[in-house]
Formats: sequence, C-alpha cells, structure tokens
Amino acid sequence: MIGVSGASGALYARALVRALSQYVVGASDLIVSPAALRVAQAELGFTSHDARQWLQECLAGLDADSSPHQFTICDHSNIGARAASGSVPHDGMLIVPCSMKSLAGIAHGYTTNLIERAADVCLKERRPLVLMPRESPYNAIHLQNMQTITAAGGIVLPASPGFYQLPRTLEDLANNLVSRALALVGLEAKLLRDLAQPYAETQSPVAAPNASQSQAG
Ligand SMILES: Cc1cc2nc3c(=O)[nH]c(=O)nc-3n(C[C@H](O)[C@H](O)[C@H](O)COP(=O)(O)O)c2cc1C
Repeated sequence: MIGVSGASGALYARALVRALSQYVVGASDLIVSPAALRVAQAELGFTSHDARQWLQECLAGLDADSSPHQFTICDHSNIGARAASGSVPHDGMLIVPCSMKSLAGIAHGYTTNLIERAADVCLKERRPLVLMPRESPYNAIHLQNMQTITAAGGIVLPASPGFYQLPRTLEDLANNLVSRALALVGLEAKLLRDLAQPYAETQSPVAAPNASQSQAG
C-alpha cells in the first residue's frame, strides 16, 4: 500500500513510484490525498487534479508497458476499498510524505480517509507501516504523535536524507531516502544498493516479498 499525503516533499513520492515502477516486480494500491495533488502542483509543477494523472506525471519518461509493477489507484475517500480491510493481505504500507494531519489521525486512531484507515489497519494487523513525516520545526504534538505511532509498531522515517553518499541531484537525495523506506518493507539488497548508489552501472528488477501471492503490494 502506498499513501501520499499533503506534506512538502512531493519529490519523495515521485521517487517512490518511479522506483517501484522500474525495479519492483509486484503490485501496489496507491492512495493520493487531495492535499498531495496540490503540493505536487506547487513543488513539481504538476497539472494533475486526480491521482491517475498524478501517477502519469510521476512516471513521465518511463516505459509503462515494460514496467514490472502494477499500480491500482484508490479513491482517497473510499473507506470501503480493500485497503480499509484487515482481511486483505499485503506486505505493508508506506506513507510518503506524511503530513502532520495524517500523522495525527493515525496516531489517534481517528481515520477520516483511506490513507488513515489503511494505516490503522496495518497497525492493528501488525503489518509494517512506514511514515515519512515532514514538518519543520516539530511541535510537542507532532513529536508525541510520532512516539505514539512508534509505540504502536509503526516506523517513523523522517524526511531527512543523508548527504554522506555525495548526492549530485535532488533525485539522488530522494532515491536514497526512498531506498531506506523500501528496505523497511522488505525490498532491500539489490534495490537498496542501486538506488542508494545512483551511478550503479547495472540495475534490474527485484521481486516484492509476496509478489506472487498478493494482489495488493
Ligand atoms: C504547498 C504546501 C506545503 C505543505 N507542506 C506541509 C508540510 O511540510 N507538512 C505538513 O504537515 N503539512 C503541510 N502542508 C499542509 C497539509 O497539506 C494540510 O495539513 C493537509 O490538510 C494535509 O492533508 P492530508 O494529510 O490528508 O494530505 C502543506 C500544504 C501545502 C499547500
């Protein structure tokens, strides 16, 4: 499951779906909030007003037909979608980036949309849940919410990329952080190596942990 909420950092979300599209054999349900669409317009110059177009803009320049990854767009307001059900198996959920509003909803079990509900399901079913919060500075409420989610079994991966791998572009920075997020849901090894080293000579797809068993990734 992939959730994209309306924090600054649309670049991270774009890097995530591009990485999945290029390197990961499997499938993901994709939920994009209305606020995330607006942030992508502000930060990436996107023109999209719905999630389908947002995905197309993210994947611009890639050959969609040869992608090993399938995305299923889910309506952000459809709290009856399969992501909302604990009985639908999947490998975990990434929320990239995660706004303080979504963080608060998840921390308090107050789910008003499909991203928050799907995250709540991950916590109750003890499945991996990785949030990439972005705000600066944090207030005490933000920090308490991160602590609450961590105590409930979620993983808080701050949108704080490392600089020690000498990134040359913003995409390098984003890829590095995205590789960390993917590793936390079991997509490590070669994918992690390739994304973390942007100048690797060879890159090839890796299989999602349960790619053959589960429709929802
Ligand atoms: C350009 C822009 C940048 C924003 N940046 C942040 C941010 O970095 N962190 C944050 O928590 N909210 C940020 N917001 C506010 C959220 O979008 C807002 O709280 C929204 O209600 C979040 O909804 P969602 O979590 O359902 O996507 C930003 C909004 C805009 C328009």
